[in-house]
Amino acid sequence: MPSYTAISALALEIFSTRSARRKTEPDLVMDDPEKVAAFTRAGRVDGVMAPMYLFHCAQISEVIRSGDTVLDLGCGPATQLGLVASINPECNFIGVDLSAEMLAKATGYVEEQKIGNVEFRQENITRLSSFPDQSVDAVMSTVVLHHLPDVDALQNVFAEVARVLKPGGGIYIVDFGHLKSERSIQKFAYQYAHRQPELFTLDYLYSLQAAFWLEDFKNAHEHHLKAHSSIYSTFIAPFLIAIKSPSRHPQDLELANRIKELKKALPSHHKTDIEDLKTFFSLGKLKSPYL
Ligand SMILES: C[S@@+](CC[C@H](N)C(=O)[O-])C[C@H]1O[C@@H](n2cnc3c(N)ncnc32)[C@H](O)[C@@H]1O
Repeated sequence: MPSYTAISALALEIFSTRSARRKTEPDLVMDDPEKVAAFTRAGRVDGVMAPMYLFHCAQISEVIRSGDTVLDLGCGPATQLGLVASINPECNFIGVDLSAEMLAKATGYVEEQKIGNVEFRQENITRLSSFPDQSVDAVMSTVVLHHLPDVDALQNVFAEVARVLKPGGGIYIVDFGHLKSERSIQKFAYQYAHRQPELFTLDYLYSLQAAFWLEDFKNAHEHHLKAHSSIYSTFIAPFLIAIKSPSRHPQDLELANRIKELKKALPSHHKTDIEDLKTFFSLGKLKSPYL
């Protein structure tokens, strides 16, 4: 049963009429040291993003397999990437980001955590110039696309994914979707305000305001990635939209146990957040067999 907070946010979205407009992020590339630090903190240990990272980690782990080279678009401080890399030690990961500040945090983090299967490149995800055609086995990306300036850039990123991916490769790309009204956006943005720094709540608000509409994703997906993947969104309110290829390996019990252990270690309010994500995505047909 989803939490009361989640249900009330959903109810507001259902009864909203479409009036909001997309506002681009104040920071397209995240280079402000204070904001980078707030974002980094929110993902680490028991930060507010920890359940979301574990949810996406379980999804990504389904579409990658042993020996893969996996590209992470907009890796940021590598909290998500570090988690995926540490439970999939037989894969090699390349994190790309345009922000030198983020890449410095990311490099420090994987060194500190002694994660040896990750490298980083400073690169624009709309033009992956250091990646030849069909050079990676899988592409992952979490909460990045809303930083792009416009739908042309979104189309470019999806075209680049289609270009660099090997045939039969894996994809898991997830980002926020645009909600119908500003009131609904505010409700979603402030639902965790009591348990996170103000700067992070504002960052979340700007992200939701900058999110692309579901039809923008569907359009770009239809043009570039339809052959490799399907598109899913959370039930009724598309506050999250995911593009995912079919699972690339049979159910892996060892991997399942590693993910279950991580879930068990979360505080109870984070377990509730994961259950909410599972429920809302599952009603939108995206299943979570590793959770
Ligand atoms: C909200 S952070 C997400 C980081 C990470 N994926 C995560 O889930 O924690 C978005 C990241 O995308 C990066 N970014 C934005 N536009 C980019 C672009 N055109 N090329 C490369 N990186 C970009 C930003 O610098 C920032 O580090």
